Amino acid sequence: MAIPTDALDHPAWLGHPHPRVEGAAKVTGRATYASDTRLEGLAHAALVTSTIPRGRIIGFDLAAAEAVPGCLRIFTHRDLAGAIRPVKHLMAGGFANSGHLPLGSDAVAYAGQIVALVVAETIEAAREAAREAAARTIVRYAAEDFADGFDAPLAETLRLADLKREHHDPRTGDADGALARAAVTVSARYGTPIQHHNPIELFGTTCAWDGSRLTIHEPSRYIGAVRHGLAAQLGLDPADIRVVSGLIGGHFGAKLALAQYTAPVALAARALGRPVSLVASRRDGFTIANYRPETRHDIHLGATGDGRFTALVHEAEVITSRFDPFAMEGTDVTASLYACPAVRTDERAARVDRNTPGPMRAPPEVPYLFALESAVDEMAVALGLDPIALRRRNDTATDPISGKPFSSRPLMACFDAGAEAFGWPERDPEPGRMRDGPWRVGLGCAASARPVKISPATMRIRLGADGRATVASAHHEIGNGITTLLALGAAEWLGIAPESVDIRLGDTDLPAAGLSGGSSTTTSLLHTLAQACETLRARLAQAATGAGPLAGADPAALRLRAGALVAPDGRTCPLGTVVAGLDPAGIETVTAFTPEGSGPEALAAIESGRMALGTGAGSKAVSWAFGAQFARVLVHEETGEIRVPRLLGAFAAGRVLNPLTARSQLTGGMIWGLGSALLEETILDRGHYRNADLAEYLVATAADAPAVEALLVPDPDDAVNPLGLKGLGELGIIGVNAAIANAVFHATGRRIRTLPIRVEDML
Ligand code: MOS
Repeated sequence: MAIPTDALDHPAWLGHPHPRVEGAAKVTGRATYASDTRLEGLAHAALVTSTIPRGRIIGFDLAAAEAVPGCLRIFTHRDLAGAIRPVKHLMAGGFANSGHLPLGSDAVAYAGQIVALVVAETIEAAREAAREAAARTIVRYAAEDFADGFDAPLAETLRLADLKREHHDPRTGDADGALARAAVTVSARYGTPIQHHNPIELFGTTCAWDGSRLTIHEPSRYIGAVRHGLAAQLGLDPADIRVVSGLIGGHFGAKLALAQYTAPVALAARALGRPVSLVASRRDGFTIANYRPETRHDIHLGATGDGRFTALVHEAEVITSRFDPFAMEGTDVTASLYACPAVRTDERAARVDRNTPGPMRAPPEVPYLFALESAVDEMAVALGLDPIALRRRNDTATDPISGKPFSSRPLMACFDAGAEAFGWPERDPEPGRMRDGPWRVGLGCAASARPVKISPATMRIRLGADGRATVASAHHEIGNGITTLLALGAAEWLGIAPESVDIRLGDTDLPAAGLSGGSSTTTSLLHTLAQACETLRARLAQAATGAGPLAGADPAALRLRAGALVAPDGRTCPLGTVVAGLDPAGIETVTAFTPEGSGPEALAAIESGRMALGTGAGSKAVSWAFGAQFARVLVHEETGEIRVPRLLGAFAAGRVLNPLTARSQLTGGMIWGLGSALLEETILDRGHYRNADLAEYLVATAADAPAVEALLVPDPDDAVNPLGLKGLGELGIIGVNAAIANAVFHATGRRIRTLPIRVEDML
């Protein structure tokens, strides 16, 4: 079925700013989240987690915990071992955030692993009993040696290609030879820290049985994986499991697939004969979910004296767990960003005794481009060139690794638009010379880039004789504004008002869809929507041309506009009349969209809760979204305090369907990037995350947020996909860390290669 791209020539709704349709409910507290679910007889759970990084549980003494008034039961591996079947990681063909089963045996694989589930009448009683069980160390352990990070003697370091069979290190030419011959070289090591997702809405689940049917209320951005993964774990028919996510109160990259706590809570609910809800603590969130792992990068960049790159070597290492083949590869972006005839990348993973890391917004690009974009800035300094001029000299219309063209390449357009709006020309090229009273002033920039992702999806649209439409898909509103975009898209293509469209998402009873991730939601769902609307238009047009005011018109030429079917000669027929003629109860279509380059197996994957993200560009072109980040930094000459009074980004991400929500995505990402550069870091100490709360794990708050501006650079790209969409949810955070580090260098002459940049680094 064709996608009606011509409908976007003169759009009525899409492309114009429109506030979020669920915004009023959110800001007035009427919006409900999964843990707001009130069920008859609901019991409350709390977690006991391990206090050693590795070893065995040799005994429990739970008497004090069980004596807490209201405590119903405490579940440990003694109750649950063997009851939950292992399933694989989502990115290894399975469904889970982690293949590790925490209550599967007496083994402790990392600090903070779930070792008991306490269920009580109230959340307070559950937490008190959990404290009794844990804080008095009544759980007894036999501790073993462990590795917790890079260079630990027991860490197992291996090539990523040996961990993940589908991984290939991008390479071309003889990079080491070219590096040895290069006129100018930059060689440096860069590092990024552990970072944890800290959404306002905590991790948790509510499980309720009705006979053999199980309903799960859980914030998740892939409810299909929860359903099918849980079915595999518990030996249930997926049809007997319903997962409802509702709105999601932030995820930052977590809340992805099947969590470790869902099956234990479901089994507790079955054993107790009543629904059980878990809202885990902020502290638990650091070890029962995923995190952005620490990374380190050795970059060697070679260039000619006039600034043409001749060699790039990027050796990267990331942390992962012992039990999952998960690691976020990122040199596919760093190897292909600039023209360079000789590139060698090597990616390694170090397996340690920690919980499995996972995606955090722009999972590979945030750390990997910090390294590359810092090195490019160092090269500009070494060459005495403006950093934007250096990037322009190495701009490329083709990917140096595959030799394929970029479907569009607006990187320098982003730098040009950003430089002008930011006032880049006022920058003194010499570091350390700009001043504002006691503050040293620095201006820095860096590139943002991210490959386009698209997924299959299915969707149902119902159109009533009253002219109202309902759009339904088992996708998710993660806060990105997809509900609004679907309302605008349905309004556009069905010729009705956005207020006449009801959107239903976040429920596995609806037609299957994939995960909300990889900035793929808009690209995937808007194509599905356009296809579904075209199906309805064609059916209505066929019916309307048989008799009545549109009799004899060409059905293919009829358009849905302003509540009517309209012929090119100006004749019209009200939409409600045509619908009622077909069926007074309304008509509906269920549509399945498969992107170009994906086969029926991709559709089957999302229908069975597995991963199916493709590029959508077939094999002809490489499609990326781009951006240029600019930061103004102040460093106090006496205290070393670092402030960022201004961030500006210019972004090109294909067709922008709602500039208002697009800008809000981008500026939110930029503020997060500031936190990523200056604040966020999880402190690891002997296998434990020591700052696992919002008092000590610092995130950027309103007071840290600078004047932040996101410009949208036109990026017409017909080759990427029929609607020219690229997705921009993750584009805003990428490169902010490097832009700030480069600005800090410009202010002070000090190159900080390890994040976060601290006051101490400035003294
Ligand atoms: Mo992302 S953290 O791949 O949605």
